[in-house]
Amino acid sequence: MIETVHVGLPGRAYDVHIGPDLIKQAGAHIAPLLSQPRVAVITDETVGALHLETLEAGLEAEGISCTSLSLAAGESTKSWSQLQVCVDWLLEQRVERRDVVIAFGGGVIGDLVGFAAAILRRGVRFVQLPTSLLAQVDSSVGGKTGINARHGKNLIGAFHQPSLVLADTALLNTMPDRDFLAGYGEVVKYGLLGDAAFFGWLETNAPLMAAGDMAARVAAVRRSVEMKADIVVRDETEQGDRALLNLGHTFCHALETATGYSSRLLHGEGVAIGCALAFELSSRMSLCPQEDPSRIRAHLHAMGMKTDLADIEGDLPDAEALLDLMGQDKKVIDGKLHFILARGIGEAFVTRDVPSDVVLSVLRDALALR
Ligand code: GLY
Repeated sequence: MIETVHVGLPGRAYDVHIGPDLIKQAGAHIAPLLSQPRVAVITDETVGALHLETLEAGLEAEGISCTSLSLAAGESTKSWSQLQVCVDWLLEQRVERRDVVIAFGGGVIGDLVGFAAAILRRGVRFVQLPTSLLAQVDSSVGGKTGINARHGKNLIGAFHQPSLVLADTALLNTMPDRDFLAGYGEVVKYGLLGDAAFFGWLETNAPLMAAGDMAARVAAVRRSVEMKADIVVRDETEQGDRALLNLGHTFCHALETATGYSSRLLHGEGVAIGCALAFELSSRMSLCPQEDPSRIRAHLHAMGMKTDLADIEGDLPDAEALLDLMGQDKKVIDGKLHFILARGIGEAFVTRDVPSDVVLSVLRDALALR
C-alpha cells in the first residue's frame, strides 16, 4: 500500500513515500542517502514516547546507529532558544556536512529541525518523518522551514528542501481526534483550491478515512501531496502560484490572532473555517456558484469539524477589528491584502482586487450568527 510522489525540483528532487509502517522500514529508505551509517534524530517528547523505539529498530535493522534529542511538544518550541538547543546538540553529536538529520514529529519539529539543518555548517541534508496529518499533507513537503518571532509566526526561516519524506500513515492512529480533524482542514483545502473531483471523493470517503480506513488515508494523503508537489515545482519560493496553498489562510490568520493561537482554535480548524469564508466572499462577489459555500459547510459539518465563527468558543473582535488583523498577515504585499478566491470548487486564484466593504459584510454576517 506504499505510494510515492516525486517532487521534481531541478537539482533538489526527492521522493515522498506514503503508507503504513514506513518508520519500521526507515533504515532501508534512508541508507542510500548516508555516507556513514549513523543519523541524528530530533523529535518531541510526545512522539518520542510513542514511536522513537520503533524508528530506532527500523534504522538498526539496516545497521544505522542513531542518537536522538526530544524537545517539549508544542508551538512554543519553534523559537530562537530551541533552535540554539538543536544546533548545539547537532554540533555536539559531530554531525558533518555529509550527514543526515531526521525531523521526527509534526509541523513544529519539521519546521524547526529543517531550519536547523539549513543553517548547520551552511546546510546539511535532512529527512522529514511527519507524524501528524497536517505535517504529512502540508508542512513536510515543499521546503518551508523556520521558527516564530516575537513579531509573528514563521517570520524567520529558509527554504531548505528535505532529501526524503516518509509519511507513515499508521502513525495517524495515535493522533487525538481533534488534531486529526484539524489536519483534515488542509486536505479539504486541496480539493477546494484545485481538484473538484478530489473534493467530491472526500465527500464520500473522508468519513471512512477519519474512522481509520488505511486505503482511504493513503489515497487522501497521496492526492494532497501530489497537488502540493505540483505547485511547489511551479513556484518554489512563492512568487505566484504557491500562494494558492494559502486558501482560507487570510481569514484563518485573523482568527488565530484573535484567539491568541490558543487551543480555542487549532490552525487546521481556522483553515477550514477560512476556506468556507473565502468561498462565501467569492460567492458574494458573484465569482462562484451560490451553492458552493453551503456545500463546503455541509461537508465540514458532516465531518464534525468547526465550520463557522459560531463554532469558536468565547469572544471574538468585531468585523472591523478582524479585517484589521487580516491586514497584519504576511500575505500583505505593498500594503494590499492578497486573497485566494475561487470561481468554483477546485478553481482558486490569487487576487488583490477585493473591496473591503464586501469582506466586512461577510464577517459581520458570520459574527451575527454567533
Ligand atoms: N503551507 C503553505 C506552503 O507550504 O506554501
